[in-house]
This record gives sequence, C-alpha cells and structure tokens, in this order.
Amino acid sequence: MTGTMVHEQWSSRFVFLMAAIGSAVGLGNVWRFPFITGENGGGAFILIYLVTMAAIALPILMAEIMLGRMGGKSPINSIIAVARQHKKSVLWAVMTWGGTLGGFFVLSYYSVIGGWALKYTGLAVSGTFAGIEGAASEQLFGSFIADPAGLALWHTLFMAINVGIIVGGLRKGIERAVVFMMPLLFLLLVGLVVYAASTPGFSAAVEFLFTFDFSKVTPNTFLLAIGQGFFSVSVALGAMMAYGAYLDKSVSIPSSAVMIAIADTGVAILAGLAIFPLVFSFALEPSAGPGLVFVTVPVAFGQMEAGLIVGSMFFLLLSVAAITSAISLLEPAVAYMEESTRFSRRSAALTVGGVCWFVGLASAFSFNDWSAFYPLAVLGVLEGKTVFDVLDFVATSWVQPGVGIMMAVFVGWVLSRDTVMEALNMNGAAPAWFGVWYFLVRIVCPLAVLIIFASAVWPDFVTGLLGGMGE
Ligand code: PHE
Repeated sequence: MTGTMVHEQWSSRFVFLMAAIGSAVGLGNVWRFPFITGENGGGAFILIYLVTMAAIALPILMAEIMLGRMGGKSPINSIIAVARQHKKSVLWAVMTWGGTLGGFFVLSYYSVIGGWALKYTGLAVSGTFAGIEGAASEQLFGSFIADPAGLALWHTLFMAINVGIIVGGLRKGIERAVVFMMPLLFLLLVGLVVYAASTPGFSAAVEFLFTFDFSKVTPNTFLLAIGQGFFSVSVALGAMMAYGAYLDKSVSIPSSAVMIAIADTGVAILAGLAIFPLVFSFALEPSAGPGLVFVTVPVAFGQMEAGLIVGSMFFLLLSVAAITSAISLLEPAVAYMEESTRFSRRSAALTVGGVCWFVGLASAFSFNDWSAFYPLAVLGVLEGKTVFDVLDFVATSWVQPGVGIMMAVFVGWVLSRDTVMEALNMNGAAPAWFGVWYFLVRIVCPLAVLIIFASAVWPDFVTGLLGGMGE
C-alpha cells in the first residue's frame, strides 16, 4: 500500500473549475434534462429544479469537494484519512466505496450513450440527416441501437478516448483535455442558441420553458428534480471528491461550488433553448422522451438550411460534454488503484477502463439481444428493467441519494463544526452564509434525500404520503 503517494495538483483554480464544470456538464444536461423537462411540463419543472439544486444538490457538492480536499487522496482513501485524523470510524468509507463503485457502473452505461453521441456526430457530418422525416429518423435510430456489434464498437471508441485521457494523469491528461474542450463546448452551445433564436419556434420554446404550469406538478416532480440535480452536478459518486483532492488549500470551495452549480444549470437551460425552438419550429413533440435528441432533433436538422453545420455542432457538443464527464467517473477508481496497489497509473487506467468496458457491453446489449433480459426482476421495483435500466436506476435512485445522505451526515454531524470551518478556510466568526449552508447540510439535505430514497424503495407509499400532504 503506497498510502503516502502524493498526487499532482491542479495548475490553477481556472483549470479546476473547467474540469469540475466539465464533469457536471454532460449527457445529463444536453440529453436528459431537456427530455425530462419536456415530459414534466416545462417551466414548473425548471422552477422546482432550481430550488432543489440550490437547497440540496449545491450544499452537498460543497461538502463533497471539501471532503476531497481534506483527504487529498482518492475518495476511498480520503475518507479513511479524514476519519482517522478526527478519530471517527473508518467504516464511513462505505460511502466512498459505494460512490466509487457507483461511478464505475454509471460509466459502464454512460459510455454506451457517449458512443451514440460519437456515432451521431459522424452521421451529422456526413449529411445523413438531410431531408429526413420523423419515421425515417426513428428507423435510423432504431436500426442503430438494434445492432449489438455497432453499439459495442462505438462504446469501445468512447471508452478508449477516456482511458487515453486518464492515462495521461492530471496535468497531461485531464487538464489538457478540459482546457480545450470546455471553451469549445461553450462556443458550440452559444452558437446553437443564437441559431435557435433566429427560428420561428423560439418564442414558443421560451414560453414552454419559462411559464409555470403547476397543474403538471406532482410529488414525483420534486423527486425527479432532486435526482436530476444530483446526477447533473455530479455529486455522490466520488467524482467531485477526487477533483477536490487535487485542489490547492487557498482556493475558496464555496464560491467554486456556486460557480459549478450555476454553470451546470446555465448549460442545461441553454441546451433547452437550443433544442426546443427546433422542436417547435418543425412542429415536433416536446415530450418525446429519451429519444428527443437522437430521434426528434435530427428531423429538425434535416429540414433546416444550415442543418449540416448546426447538426454537426450539436452532436459534437454532446460528445465533448460526455467525455469531460466520463473522465471524472473513471478517476476515483483509477486513483484508488494507483494508491493502494502496485499498479502504475497507466495499468490502473487500462484495468479499470477495460473491466468497465466489459461491463458496459451488457448495457449495449440491453437495446437489442438482451432487451427482454431483466436481471433483477425478482426485486419488484426492478421488474421489466434491462441491465442498462437497472444500472441507471440503482445508481441514480439508490447509490447517489444513499451516498449523498452519508456525506451530509458525515460533514454535518460527525465532523465538528470547528473542523468544517477550518476546512473551508474560516477562522474566527462564521459568515452568515455558513449558518445557512450548515443548516441545509445538517437538516434539509438528509431529510429531503431520505424522501427520495424512500420513494425509490417504496414509490407508492411515498407518493401517497406526499400527495396526501398536498391536499
Ligand atoms: N454530471 C454528469 C452529467 O450531467 C454525469 C456525472 C454524474 C458525472 C456523476 C460524474 C459523476 O452527465
């Protein structure tokens, strides 16, 4: 065990922010957020999302980055180090074992969808969408995901890119990638929104996104919003803790966390402003579900004049966003192996990436050969779910809330207030925001997360309970 191994540090606060925002901004923003918003009535969902982001996801994000910096190691070893230093049980490391494994499994299927983004970038560039209509677009996507070998191939490519970046380490790998990818991502996004603003559907999209129709809000909307917020801002899977470990002691964590959350939310809303105007301009369905960006949006690209350029920009944006998130999912397990075994960083990255790739094949097959294979159907809530569905559901509904609650309790109740203040570079009187954050971490986050947690385990019970309260 090379527990004394010293990691590289971020070369500046700016690159840390680029990497952390890169982790946060991903498929969750450009693929998941728009369709969940579309399915849940638009504006009202966004409003609830903003509130739960500020009150629940952001406070936990701050706590997670702080724990990473306190430990200075991989998430698993960081919690062990912090627990030892403050004479607490090292059993608290279950949270980061859970988070690291959770992140590993998320990466296995994230890579499959990342592969779709790569494939669709190729399709867009080669002009495949020209003149495409709804049925043809559906067929194109359908036959793509029906082919196991094709999906496996794109998944392999996506995983290989990520492993290639992670092998390079912090400065020569992650930093180099995010420093050129993040500005590219922002440029592409702004370009797409400017284009979307010139289409006739823009005002309808703005109305859809910013009009609060509360008739569509159910207790479930809150649960979805919290879950989406956790996933989107990358909390509870160790990614942010790993990135926090490489952060200089002088950097302010609260302001960094606020910037990450604002950038993440801003990108999600801008992605909505890029996508929905097209959906409305070409009279497509805003509530198309997971197929929204792969089936619906290409139809718009096929009909517009600048479709080749705009479509290529869009899928390139999606691919870049997915890569900068995927590397942060790979880092916690790789850093742990590098610290705790004799593996070099290169062998650790190849091993973790290789096993993750193998596990990911099961998700790729979930869309075709194994589409009727429901591995954990014996557990009622997992009935009818493919390997892909099970991994996504378990990671986002069980692991993320479970680990999130443990992080909040560990920081809010297990560590002392003085320890926490010191970790946040505060000496003397605590500023007012500290009291608010501390209250959110101690009381609001655990309670709210407990509710999402329970809702995943006993969906009907919790929905009934919350529904009853609302009447
Ligand atoms: N935040 C990423 C996204 O929105 C996914 C992710 C979750 C990445 C958790 C790292 C950790 O796509």
